[in-house]
Amino acid sequence: MPLLTVDELTVTFGGRGRKDVRAVNGVSFDVDQGQVVGLVGESGCGKSVTSLALMGLLPSKGVTLGGRAELDGTNLLSLTPSKMRDLRGRDMAMIFQDPLSSLNPVVPVGVQVTEILQRHRGLKGEAARKEAAHLLDRVGIPDPTRRLKEYPHQLSGGMRQRALIAMAVACAPRLLIADEPTTALDVTIQAQILELLKELVDQEGTALLMITHDLGVVAGLCDQVNVLYAGKVVESAGRRELFAHPTHPYTHGLLGSIPRLDAPRGEPLHPIRGSINDQIAWADGCAFAPRCDRYEMECLTGTPELTEPRAAGHHARCANPVLATTEVPA
Ligand SMILES: Nc1ncnc2c1ncn2[C@@H]1O[C@H](COP(=O)(O)OP(=O)(O)O)[C@@H](O)[C@H]1O
Ligand SMILES: [Mg+2]
Repeated sequence: MPLLTVDELTVTFGGRGRKDVRAVNGVSFDVDQGQVVGLVGESGCGKSVTSLALMGLLPSKGVTLGGRAELDGTNLLSLTPSKMRDLRGRDMAMIFQDPLSSLNPVVPVGVQVTEILQRHRGLKGEAARKEAAHLLDRVGIPDPTRRLKEYPHQLSGGMRQRALIAMAVACAPRLLIADEPTTALDVTIQAQILELLKELVDQEGTALLMITHDLGVVAGLCDQVNVLYAGKVVESAGRRELFAHPTHPYTHGLLGSIPRLDAPRGEPLHPIRGSINDQIAWADGCAFAPRCDRYEMECLTGTPELTEPRAAGHHARCANPVLATTEVPA
């Protein structure tokens, strides 16, 4: 049985006088123990809302959840707030894009780490301080004892993200959700943070749900990839299969818009035309159709189903998938 099962998850924002917005529209995927699963797509496609729903961090007012999300058999969508607080940190933890806004600016880093150790592992005083220093050392922060006394603004962006990762792994959670953890960092620091996450997954057997708009991150890290468009998974496959044979025109577009070093000089980039705002409702057809080069009348006759047009285990939601072999190196 998978560690996390997400089945037809929907998240709808609404409320008095406002038009309902269905930000997540029937998303399904699994995460196995020790596996790295990617959730990829352009900004606004529902990645963060999905992760916040799993973590129980969406406001209860004006938000309607549907479907199922189970962590080792526990339904995450129906937990009481206090049960959810126990689970968060202990069984599942999250790392956000902006480390500065996730840390309390007026509390020393050490106090923030020891608070977690006290709450979830019952460590106090010297034992908590020692374990906090050990954790900072574990995530590659030099001189941890001194760093623990400092405030978040005294750390560099990369160090802050390392501190947040230390806090996330403090209780050895079984599932780590990372929402664009490297987007706010310099490229060299990005690579170090990704390396650190990979190491934690390998050594601790933690499952990682990696949320990103960056296919480079996916290529380097993920075992299984889910491509999201307008709140629905449009393609899912193992990493190698996905990069070797992108089947949904949207995935194709994402891959085609990355600069390639082996392309002839002067070769233009091929960005996907239009924006995520050019979409039709999934109920009426394929939401990607207005931006798609392969669209046919059939694409406007109701929601396309997920099928396996190419290979078993490789799903695509498309009436006219790309089936020719392309050479996109992983
Ligand atoms: N509180 C909210 N009320 C209404 N719509 C929201 C709210 N939060 C997010 N959305 C909408 O949900 C969609 C998905 O957002 P998000 O999950 O943040 O995208 P991303 O994939 O960039 O993380 C967006 O269209 C956004 O406008
Ligand atoms: Mg986001």
